[in-house]
Amino acid sequence: MSSMINSNAPVSVQPLPGALGAEIRGVDFSQPLTASVRKQVEEAWTKHVVLRFRGMPTLSADDLIAFSKNFGNLDARPIGSSEKNPYFEVDKPEITIISNVVVAGKPIGGLGAYEAVWHSDMTYVDLPPKASCLYAIEIPPSGGNTYFVNMYEAYDTLSAGLKQRIASLSCVHDASRNSAGELRRGFAEINDPTKTVGAVHPLVRVHPTSKKRCLFLGRRRGAYVSGLSLADSEALLDELWAHATEPRFMWSQEWQLGDLVMWDNRCAMHRREAFDPSTRRLMLRTQISGEAV
Ligand code: OGA
Ligand code: MN
Repeated sequence: MSSMINSNAPVSVQPLPGALGAEIRGVDFSQPLTASVRKQVEEAWTKHVVLRFRGMPTLSADDLIAFSKNFGNLDARPIGSSEKNPYFEVDKPEITIISNVVVAGKPIGGLGAYEAVWHSDMTYVDLPPKASCLYAIEIPPSGGNTYFVNMYEAYDTLSAGLKQRIASLSCVHDASRNSAGELRRGFAEINDPTKTVGAVHPLVRVHPTSKKRCLFLGRRRGAYVSGLSLADSEALLDELWAHATEPRFMWSQEWQLGDLVMWDNRCAMHRREAFDPSTRRLMLRTQISGEAV
């Protein structure tokens, strides 16, 4: 297999209008990437946080896995999602299906057609994925856009007092529910955040590649700032969340067929708006393994 196309191609990086995001052109992902191309894509990713590769309507699940492995090892999908999926003849543990499509009375993927509230993926584990890659196979005629916020900017724009207050605080990330608010199998309902079960992460982290500080919130539901009274924790989290999700830190992805979006799960959060449940949306996702922060 020749990789001539990529060996000389300059990678085009077009920033998108918003607080993060860039579109990448000039990369042929059906070929192995040269070191130079991979480095250019990685540098663009570090700078722009979310990358969009547009117009790749024919990727298979294996192609998405091969693309994702350019940037690290892959994690298995989260517990309780997409098992024994009718969509594949052979199970692919690296692939999470995000879809509202129902086959033989069973949803073939996660998140349905309703809103997925702001979150980063799988932060309830000790080493969450550093990236997620989401590829659009079927999209509804309207709705289902995905919004991202830039958590470097959210951090940078906090008041000096608030930065100081949160500098050494950590937060518990609730493992019991997914981003659509559904209780995961095997978890009990918990209504007291001081009893939340899940990984504990600092509220402020230094990104291992960019070396810049970012706010790390995970998801709001069930979150608890260790060591504070419940009331103080709730007030602090409400303030941080209201700030981090201001429109000035956002960019929204309006999906086209064949879009592949790769986001940095450490310094961005995302949400998915609802769409008409009588229409179909089918996406494949991979998770690129995290590195210790
Ligand atoms: C995800 C997710 C958003 C979307 O796959 O992690 O949040 O737009 N999906 O489907
Ligand atoms: Mn997600």
